[in-house]
Amino acid sequence: MKKRINIAVLGLGRLGYSHTKNLLTEVHGAYLYMVVDPLPGRAKEVAGEFGIEFHSTNIEDALTHPGVDAVVIVTPTSTHAEIIKKAAYYQKHIFVEKPLTLNLEESEKVSVAVKKAGIICQVGFMRRFDPGYVDAKRRIDNGEIGRPLYFKAFTRDPGSPPPEFIKSSGGIFVDCSIHDYDIARYLFNTEITSVAAHGNILKYDFMKEFNDLDHGLTYVEFANGAIGDMEVSRNSPYGYDIRAEVIGTEGALFVGDLREQQVTILNQDGSNFKVFPDFQTRFRVAYIEELKHFIHCIQTGEKPIVDDKDATQDLRVALAATHAYQTGKKVIVEEFAPEKTHL
Ligand SMILES: NC(=O)c1ccc[n+]([C@@H]2O[C@H](COP(=O)([O-])OP(=O)(O)OC[C@H]3O[C@@H](n4cnc5c(N)ncnc54)[C@H](O)[C@@H]3O)[C@@H](O)[C@H]2O)c1
Repeated sequence: MKKRINIAVLGLGRLGYSHTKNLLTEVHGAYLYMVVDPLPGRAKEVAGEFGIEFHSTNIEDALTHPGVDAVVIVTPTSTHAEIIKKAAYYQKHIFVEKPLTLNLEESEKVSVAVKKAGIICQVGFMRRFDPGYVDAKRRIDNGEIGRPLYFKAFTRDPGSPPPEFIKSSGGIFVDCSIHDYDIARYLFNTEITSVAAHGNILKYDFMKEFNDLDHGLTYVEFANGAIGDMEVSRNSPYGYDIRAEVIGTEGALFVGDLREQQVTILNQDGSNFKVFPDFQTRFRVAYIEELKHFIHCIQTGEKPIVDDKDATQDLRVALAATHAYQTGKKVIVEEFAPEKTHL
C-alpha cells in the first residue's frame, strides 16, 4: 500500500481553493504536490500562500508529471470530460467535482477511459459524507423508519454564482438539483424512474441569456413506488439552506438544520440565530471526509462509494428533469433521449 499520495489540484476557484486547504491540513496520506489554474498568477499565488512545491498554468504539466499520483479536478464542468480522459490516459487517479460532465455521451466515454485505465474515479457528491446524511442512510438501512415512502428536499443557495459560472454549469437541474437526485437514490437504495419539473427566473434576469432558471421544482417517482419532490433555488437571502425529509411506513427522518450554531440570542431586538452562510461552511466536514475516502480508496484499491457510474445516472436524471421542465411533460428517465438535453 502506497502511504503518501501525491496530489495535483486542477482549478483554484471557489471550491478548488477550499479542497486545497483541506488536502493540506485535514487529509492524512495526501501530499499536495502541485496546483494548476490557467488564470495568470493564480496557481503561483496559492502555491506561495501554502508553500506548495509545484505550480503551473497548464494542466498538461500535472497530467504528465511522473510524481503526481492523483488529480482533484475542480474546473468548470464543461472542461471535466477532456481532463478526465487525459488523466486516465496518464494513469492518474481522479477525484472530480460534480456534475461528471454535461452530457451522457461524454459521461459514458469517460467511464470507458476510467475502466480501461483501471484507476479510481470518485465524484464530488459530498452529501454522502455529511454526518447527517451518513446517519440517515444508516438508520434507513437499519429499518428504523420502515420502508421509505416519500422524499422531500430543499437546496437553497443564498445567491447566484456569476454569469461566467452559470454559462458552463449545465443549468439549475444539472448543477444543483443533481445533489438531491444523488442523495435520494442513495438513501432510497433505488433508482429514480420518472421526473416532472417546473421553474422560473424570479430574481436573476441575466439567466435568460443562458436559458437557465433561479428557482425550480422536481417531482420524482422511484422504482420501488416511492415518490418525492425537490425544491432548488438561488434565491435564499437568509443563507445556505440544505435539508431533507424521508417519510417511511414506521416513522420519519429529517436531515440538516438551518443553524450553523446551536445558540439562539434573545434581547431587546427579539431573537435570532446564525444560519449557514455558504456551502463551504455547511459541508465543511463532508468535503474533508470525501477526500479522505478518495485517498483511502487509492491506498486500498477499494471502490469509492460514489463513482462515475453513479454520477452518470445522476446526470441522466438531471437531464431528464431539464427536458421535463422544457416540455412541461413527465419524462421516463430510461426512455429519455439524451440528445434533447440543453437548457
Ligand atoms: N460539490 C459541491 O458542492 C460544489 C460546489 C461548488 C462547485 N462545485 C463544482 O466544482 C467545479 C468548479 O466550481 P467552482 O465554483 O470552484 O468554479 P470557479 O469558477 O470558482 O473556479 C473554477 C476555476 O477553474 C479554473 N479553470 C478554468 N478552466 C480550467 C482548466 N481548463 N484547467 C484548470 N483550471 C481551469 C478557473 O480559472 C477558476 O479558477 C464545478 O464543476 C462545480 O459544479 C461543486
